[in-house]
Amino acid sequence: MYKKIPGTRDVLPEEAIWWQKTENLSRSIFALYNYQEVRPPLLEDAGLFNRSLGENTEIVQKQMFLVKNNVDLYALRPEGTASVVRAYIENNCDKTCGLVKWYYLGPMFRLERPQKGRLRQFHHIGCEVIGSSCADLDVEVIALADDLLKGYGISGYETEINTLGCPEDKGKLIELLRVRLGDKLSRLCEDCQRRFTTNPLRILDCKNDDCSAVIAGLDINNQHLCDDCKTHFKQVTAGLDALGVSYEVLPRLVRGLDYYNRTVFEIKHSSLGSQDALGAGGRYNNLVKQLGGPDIGAIGFALGVERLLLVSGQTQKKTPNKLAYIIPLGENARSYSLKLLASLRKAGICCDTDYENRSLKGAMRRANDLAARFVLIIGDDELKNAEITLKDMESGEQRVVKQDSIKAILTT
Ligand code: HAM
Repeated sequence: MYKKIPGTRDVLPEEAIWWQKTENLSRSIFALYNYQEVRPPLLEDAGLFNRSLGENTEIVQKQMFLVKNNVDLYALRPEGTASVVRAYIENNCDKTCGLVKWYYLGPMFRLERPQKGRLRQFHHIGCEVIGSSCADLDVEVIALADDLLKGYGISGYETEINTLGCPEDKGKLIELLRVRLGDKLSRLCEDCQRRFTTNPLRILDCKNDDCSAVIAGLDINNQHLCDDCKTHFKQVTAGLDALGVSYEVLPRLVRGLDYYNRTVFEIKHSSLGSQDALGAGGRYNNLVKQLGGPDIGAIGFALGVERLLLVSGQTQKKTPNKLAYIIPLGENARSYSLKLLASLRKAGICCDTDYENRSLKGAMRRANDLAARFVLIIGDDELKNAEITLKDMESGEQRVVKQDSIKAILTT
């Protein structure tokens, strides 16, 4: 028997109700902010991610699902930002649309070691605003993420924010770290000793206890930041204060992807355990240019849907629906029921029937399990008199109605 690949999940219909609600709610909140949906492909040239996420990032080094196709190397997208920026540039949106506010929903793939909240196929609800460096947009996207979470009914999360500064400032921060950590290397974990050369910023968010202790003793304030980046960050925090969005400034917050500069943020929920990020995002002002587009600013975020599900408290109870469930008793009733099903569906009435020749009692039980709103019982007597026995499952009332009035009754 085949089993699903580790780190993937089956979403069965009861849970799918939660997904539909979450997706629908997200769409309506994005629409309030005037964001439009974009659907890039799931497969991209692997080079796109190497270039934008960074050759030394964990994702590029270890987590890409690669697909070799003759001479080309494709990758199942590990995240959405790079694809969206590629689509923006390739479709000349800088010339036709200028500033875009786009959102996306869909699967991402990372070859990680599966554990609670960490999957190999997971889903993002994300957005990217491309075409401006205005600090008000940093405020807008953080407030939007906050609105989405509140909309889903999630509480108890914390939004941490920081600024990495512009690329020059980031360079200064990296140098500062090398100076401050140079004589403490032996106290760092093996990964961080490697990161010291390849990607020192990542040492700041290492979860290893020894590394955390070293990092906690480092004096990192905003000395690496230029005046423009300080002003930008002040505008961001002032905007969040004005909107009443809660946040905490965490000077050690860095992100695992190279494209970020200036504002970065992460939304955490302690109930998630070690994989505690519900979502994350930030500015990536240089990426559009780096991928061959114009020199314009951009910012976005992505929420991890499976983690939203974990903190939302699992699946929904089956809610009563408008289903009309037809129970035919006997062969003649069965062939009449098939025609009735077709004509009710044409009239926009959701209906189903018993395909398994159950007894009346068994079929009623099935209607109950399906949370049907009405049951239509059709036996020989009903056929003879052109009638249907109609049971209202909500009130329990049962009456005999004329066949030609059934559509009107079910639609009122
Ligand atoms: P990220 O932090 O890699 O950022 O992913 C965003 C969120 O996706 C995480 O906070 C987490 O909730 C979820 N997530 C990540 N990996 C997994 C996994 N293996 N299993 C389950 N959930 C996971 C990005 O991907 C950026 N593209 C976000 C962004 C958009 N920045 C700017 N625009």
